[in-house]
Amino acid sequence: MKNKPGRLCPVERAGTLDSKLRRWFQDPQKIMKPYLKPGMTALDFGCGPGFFTLDMAQMVGASGQVIATDLQQGMLEKLHTKIQGTDLENRIRLHQCEENKINLAEPIDFFFSFYVMHEVPDQEVLFREISRMLKPKGAVFIAEPPVHVSRKAFEATLDLARENGLRLAERPSVFLSKAAVLTKTLG
Ligand SMILES: C[S@@+](CC[C@H](N)C(=O)[O-])C[C@H]1O[C@@H](n2cnc3c(N)ncnc32)[C@H](O)[C@@H]1O
Repeated sequence: MKNKPGRLCPVERAGTLDSKLRRWFQDPQKIMKPYLKPGMTALDFGCGPGFFTLDMAQMVGASGQVIATDLQQGMLEKLHTKIQGTDLENRIRLHQCEENKINLAEPIDFFFSFYVMHEVPDQEVLFREISRMLKPKGAVFIAEPPVHVSRKAFEATLDLARENGLRLAERPSVFLSKAAVLTKTLG
Protein backbone atom coordinates (compact mmCIF):
# COMPACT_ATOMS: atom_id res chain seq x y z
CA MET A 1 0.00 0.00 0.00
CA LYS A 2 1.43 3.38 -1.00
CA ASN A 3 0.27 6.57 0.74
CA LYS A 4 0.19 9.78 -1.24
CA PRO A 5 2.98 12.29 -0.53
CA GLY A 6 2.06 15.58 1.13
CA ARG A 7 0.19 14.09 4.08
CA LEU A 8 2.66 15.29 6.70
CA CYS A 9 1.42 16.87 9.92
CA PRO A 10 2.82 20.44 9.77
CA VAL A 11 5.31 21.56 12.41
CA GLU A 12 3.10 24.64 13.04
CA ARG A 13 0.41 22.27 14.36
CA ALA A 14 2.74 20.53 16.80
CA GLY A 15 1.13 22.34 19.77
CA THR A 16 -2.19 20.55 19.24
CA LEU A 17 -0.40 17.19 19.64
CA ASP A 18 1.34 18.18 22.84
CA SER A 19 -1.47 19.50 25.03
CA LYS A 20 -2.31 18.80 28.69
CA LEU A 21 -5.86 18.01 27.60
CA ARG A 22 -4.59 15.12 25.45
CA ARG A 23 -3.02 13.49 28.50
CA TRP A 24 -6.51 13.08 29.97
CA PHE A 25 -7.71 10.84 27.17
CA GLN A 26 -4.44 9.40 25.83
CA ASP A 27 -2.27 8.98 28.93
CA PRO A 28 1.14 7.81 27.60
CA GLN A 29 1.98 5.85 30.77
CA LYS A 30 -1.32 3.92 30.69
CA ILE A 31 -1.02 3.19 26.98
CA MET A 32 2.57 1.91 27.11
CA LYS A 33 2.67 0.32 30.59
CA PRO A 34 2.01 -3.28 29.43
CA TYR A 35 4.89 -3.19 26.93
CA LEU A 36 7.61 -0.83 28.07
CA LYS A 37 9.99 -1.93 30.84
CA PRO A 38 13.15 -0.53 32.48
CA GLY A 39 16.33 -1.16 30.51
CA MET A 40 14.61 -1.39 27.13
CA THR A 41 15.64 0.36 23.95
CA ALA A 42 12.48 1.98 22.58
CA LEU A 43 11.91 3.76 19.30
CA ASP A 44 9.37 6.59 19.15
CA PHE A 45 8.75 6.62 15.41
CA GLY A 46 7.30 9.92 14.12
CA CYS A 47 7.76 11.40 17.58
CA GLY A 48 6.55 14.87 16.58
CA PRO A 49 7.05 17.34 19.45
CA GLY A 50 7.47 14.40 21.87
CA PHE A 51 4.08 13.93 23.52
CA PHE A 52 5.01 10.29 24.23
CA THR A 53 8.81 10.57 24.26
CA LEU A 54 9.37 11.96 27.77
CA ASP A 55 7.12 9.35 29.38
CA MET A 56 8.92 6.66 27.41
CA ALA A 57 12.24 7.92 28.80
CA GLN A 58 10.86 7.78 32.35
CA MET A 59 9.55 4.26 31.80
CA VAL A 60 12.79 2.78 30.38
CA GLY A 61 14.70 4.25 33.32
CA ALA A 62 18.35 5.19 33.59
CA SER A 63 19.48 1.87 32.08
CA GLY A 64 17.25 2.23 29.02
CA GLN A 65 17.25 4.41 25.94
CA VAL A 66 14.66 6.12 23.75
CA ILE A 67 15.40 6.93 20.15
CA ALA A 68 13.04 9.66 19.01
CA THR A 69 12.89 9.77 15.27
CA ASP A 70 11.03 12.03 12.87
CA LEU A 71 11.20 13.02 9.25
CA GLN A 72 10.83 16.71 10.07
CA GLN A 73 13.78 18.53 11.62
CA GLY A 74 11.32 21.13 13.02
CA MET A 75 9.60 18.47 15.16
CA LEU A 76 12.95 17.23 16.50
CA GLU A 77 13.92 20.81 17.34
CA LYS A 78 10.73 21.25 19.38
CA LEU A 79 11.52 18.06 21.28
CA HIS A 80 15.13 19.14 21.79
CA THR A 81 13.95 22.42 23.35
CA LYS A 82 11.71 20.45 25.74
CA ILE A 83 14.38 18.04 27.00
CA GLN A 84 17.42 20.32 26.99
CA GLY A 85 18.91 20.54 30.49
CA THR A 86 16.48 18.01 32.00
CA ASP A 87 17.34 14.70 33.69
CA LEU A 88 15.85 12.84 30.75
CA GLU A 89 18.06 14.44 28.11
CA ASN A 90 20.76 11.74 28.22
CA ARG A 91 18.20 8.94 27.80
CA ILE A 92 16.75 10.40 24.59
CA ARG A 93 18.57 10.35 21.30
CA LEU A 94 17.14 12.43 18.48
CA HIS A 95 17.37 11.00 14.99
CA GLN A 96 16.12 12.42 11.70
CA CYS A 97 15.03 9.62 9.39
CA GLU A 98 14.16 9.43 5.71
CA GLU A 99 10.67 8.98 4.27
CA ASN A 100 10.82 5.18 4.03
CA LYS A 101 14.01 4.50 5.93
CA ILE A 102 14.82 4.81 9.61
CA ASN A 103 18.49 3.93 9.21
CA LEU A 104 19.49 2.82 12.69
CA ALA A 105 21.85 0.03 13.69
CA GLU A 106 20.52 -0.64 17.23
CA PRO A 107 18.28 -3.65 17.91
CA ILE A 108 14.94 -2.41 19.30
CA ASP A 109 12.76 -3.86 22.09
CA PHE A 110 9.76 -1.63 21.53
CA PHE A 111 8.74 0.18 18.35
CA PHE A 112 6.05 2.79 18.94
CA SER A 113 4.13 4.52 16.17
CA PHE A 114 1.21 6.74 17.13
CA TYR A 115 -0.75 8.54 14.39
CA VAL A 116 2.15 8.15 11.93
CA MET A 117 1.69 5.15 9.62
CA HIS A 118 -0.87 6.88 7.37
CA GLU A 119 1.80 9.52 6.62
CA VAL A 120 4.41 6.95 5.52
CA PRO A 121 4.61 6.72 1.71
CA ASP A 122 5.66 3.05 1.50
CA GLN A 123 4.62 1.03 4.55
CA GLU A 124 5.87 -2.25 3.11
CA VAL A 125 9.47 -1.03 2.90
CA LEU A 126 9.16 0.33 6.43
CA PHE A 127 7.80 -2.95 7.86
CA ARG A 128 10.70 -4.85 6.34
CA GLU A 129 13.10 -2.54 8.16
CA ILE A 130 11.13 -2.76 11.43
CA SER A 131 11.26 -6.58 11.30
CA ARG A 132 15.01 -6.43 10.80
CA MET A 133 15.66 -4.05 13.66
CA LEU A 134 13.27 -5.64 16.19
CA LYS A 135 14.76 -8.01 18.80
CA PRO A 136 13.29 -11.57 18.76
CA LYS A 137 10.99 -10.77 21.71
CA GLY A 138 10.37 -7.20 20.63
CA ALA A 139 6.97 -5.58 20.12
CA VAL A 140 5.51 -3.06 17.70
CA PHE A 141 2.69 -0.77 18.81
CA ILE A 142 0.68 0.98 16.11
CA ALA A 143 -2.16 3.42 16.67
CA GLU A 144 -3.91 5.33 13.94
CA PRO A 145 -6.50 8.11 14.07
CA PRO A 146 -10.05 6.84 13.57
CA VAL A 147 -11.22 9.53 11.15
CA HIS A 148 -8.22 9.80 8.80
CA VAL A 149 -7.74 6.03 8.68
CA SER A 150 -10.64 3.76 7.74
CA ARG A 151 -11.01 0.25 9.16
CA LYS A 152 -10.11 -1.10 5.71
CA ALA A 153 -6.93 0.99 5.53
CA PHE A 154 -5.90 -0.05 9.04
CA GLU A 155 -6.43 -3.73 8.23
CA ALA A 156 -4.36 -3.28 5.05
CA THR A 157 -1.54 -1.87 7.20
CA LEU A 158 -1.73 -4.90 9.51
CA ASP A 159 -1.73 -7.26 6.49
CA LEU A 160 1.46 -5.62 5.25
CA ALA A 161 3.02 -6.00 8.70
CA ARG A 162 2.10 -9.71 8.70
CA GLU A 163 3.50 -10.23 5.21
CA ASN A 164 6.78 -8.70 6.37
CA GLY A 165 7.68 -10.74 9.41
CA LEU A 166 5.31 -9.53 12.13
CA ARG A 167 2.48 -11.31 13.92
CA LEU A 168 -0.67 -9.69 15.32
CA ALA A 169 -0.61 -10.21 19.10
CA GLU A 170 -3.24 -7.88 20.49
CA ARG A 171 -5.72 -5.13 19.72
CA PRO A 172 -5.54 -2.79 22.70
CA SER A 173 -8.30 -0.33 23.30
CA VAL A 174 -6.98 3.23 22.96
CA PHE A 175 -9.32 6.23 22.97
CA LEU A 176 -9.72 7.92 19.57
CA SER A 177 -7.60 5.27 17.87
CA LYS A 178 -7.44 2.03 16.00
CA ALA A 179 -4.59 0.18 17.66
CA ALA A 180 -2.63 -3.06 17.39
CA VAL A 181 0.41 -4.71 18.93
CA LEU A 182 2.55 -6.98 16.80
CA THR A 183 5.45 -9.22 17.68
CA LYS A 184 8.21 -10.68 15.62
CA THR A 185 7.47 -13.93 13.87
CA LEU A 186 9.83 -16.49 15.31
CA GLY A 187 12.06 -18.54 13.04
C1 LIG B 1 0.35 13.32 13.58
S1 LIG B 1 2.03 13.48 14.04
C2 LIG B 1 2.09 12.40 15.47
C3 LIG B 1 3.22 12.74 16.40
C4 LIG B 1 3.30 11.86 17.67
N1 LIG B 1 3.49 10.48 17.35
C5 LIG B 1 2.10 12.04 18.53
O1 LIG B 1 1.22 11.15 18.57
O2 LIG B 1 2.00 13.10 19.17
C6 LIG B 1 2.90 12.53 12.83
C7 LIG B 1 4.40 12.69 12.91
O3 LIG B 1 5.00 11.68 12.11
C8 LIG B 1 6.05 12.25 11.37
N2 LIG B 1 6.24 11.44 10.14
C9 LIG B 1 5.44 11.36 9.08
N3 LIG B 1 5.91 10.51 8.17
C10 LIG B 1 7.07 10.03 8.67
C11 LIG B 1 8.04 9.11 8.20
N4 LIG B 1 7.92 8.52 7.02
N5 LIG B 1 9.10 8.85 8.98
C12 LIG B 1 9.21 9.45 10.20
N6 LIG B 1 8.34 10.33 10.69
C13 LIG B 1 7.28 10.62 9.94
C14 LIG B 1 5.60 13.66 11.08
O4 LIG B 1 6.68 14.52 10.79
C15 LIG B 1 4.91 14.02 12.41
O5 LIG B 1 5.80 14.56 13.33
